[in-house]
Amino acid sequence: MNSWGYKMKKYKIAVIPGDGIGIEVAAEAVKTLDFVSNISKELFFDFTFYDWGCTYFLEHGKMMPENALETLKGFDAILLGAVGFPGVPDHVSLRDLLLKIRQGFDEYVNLRPVKLLNPEFSPLKEFHNIDMVFVRENCEGEYSGKGSFENANSVDETALQTSVFTRKGCERIIRYAFELAMSPERNRHVTSITKSNALNYSMVFWDKIFEEVSREYPLVKTSKLHVDAASMFMIQHPERFDVVVASNLFGDILTDLGAALQGGLGFAAGANINPAGNFPSMFEPVHGSAPEIAGKNIANPIAMIWSSAMMLDFLGETYLSNIIEEAINDVSYKIKSLTPDCGGNGTTESVGRLIRDIINIKMDENI
Ligand code: NAI
Ligand code: MG
Repeated sequence: MNSWGYKMKKYKIAVIPGDGIGIEVAAEAVKTLDFVSNISKELFFDFTFYDWGCTYFLEHGKMMPENALETLKGFDAILLGAVGFPGVPDHVSLRDLLLKIRQGFDEYVNLRPVKLLNPEFSPLKEFHNIDMVFVRENCEGEYSGKGSFENANSVDETALQTSVFTRKGCERIIRYAFELAMSPERNRHVTSITKSNALNYSMVFWDKIFEEVSREYPLVKTSKLHVDAASMFMIQHPERFDVVVASNLFGDILTDLGAALQGGLGFAAGANINPAGNFPSMFEPVHGSAPEIAGKNIANPIAMIWSSAMMLDFLGETYLSNIIEEAINDVSYKIKSLTPDCGGNGTTESVGRLIRDIINIKMDENI
């Protein structure tokens, strides 16, 4: 019950801060969520923290316990900072934690907004209105983990990495992109990223399914770009992009390019969504654990706080999600107060605080 006698909504959130700056930025996201729940008085978050990651690995030989997915299953959502640290090979830390959760919970949509808030942060010479969203396939494709090493330590030594593209996997991610394009916030345009000139099985198949699904959406304009050309056009004509659908690898690479268009990885938020809702979805920034700046209180917390706003939106708390996103937009204009990656002299904590101060004013105005 809150002070007015209403039953408060409770959300059970699992927090995996992970490694490096993940720990610092996750703390700011949690403080921000607590802050909005305290003001709104309509909901509260029941956070449970898990110390899984590379430090855990050094002690236990694995990134998280055997029954981790079983443990996480009961939560409404998961917040993740970042994983990976020198001392544990990156392919181990990524696959043994992040990919296990994404694939194990069938979080097949990796949603990554690429939106330029303050034009000052654009690396482009001329002003462009940059507002696109990537819908990246998150469970199969090039990151299926299939392959082998053959003829080890011989002149014929070979590595095989197999991409897996299933009809079900392609159809559902492409359909998700079209549905998103039809939503009022978007502009009814889907660009498919391909490379079917060279990848004569996987991407020819992807193109075929894109073509099939697109016929169900006659109101949506479509474009098809090879990934190399897409990287050029994202810089030359970023306004050409609205909703972009891409395979696991291509989406991964292009969204770092997207992050650069936004002003850096410190602005790149993300969500791993299980649209059916049969397992929790996971919200995490695009960036990694940035070991070289870890522990210095200078990591930009914006991407992580933005990811937590995406979590609120997913949970149906649109009002609070919008308030956080507006505050992030406002804070992007206070350049001197931002973290050093943005040219400011603020800290992870001071930027988090500033965002909460702005939220406070906004929520006060709206009450
Ligand atoms: P990274 O994203 O950690 O860092 C790339 C560059 O961006 C660095 O110069 C870093 O200082 C800067 N940067 C990133 N986030 C920042 C922030 N919030 N504020 C200020 N500067 C920021 O990628 P990198 O260096 O390739 O990988 C480092 C580790 O992170 C590796 O172990 C890698 O496997 C892991 N990683 C984990 C991811 C995840 O958990 N989702 C994603 C990408 C990498
Ligand atoms: Mg990446």
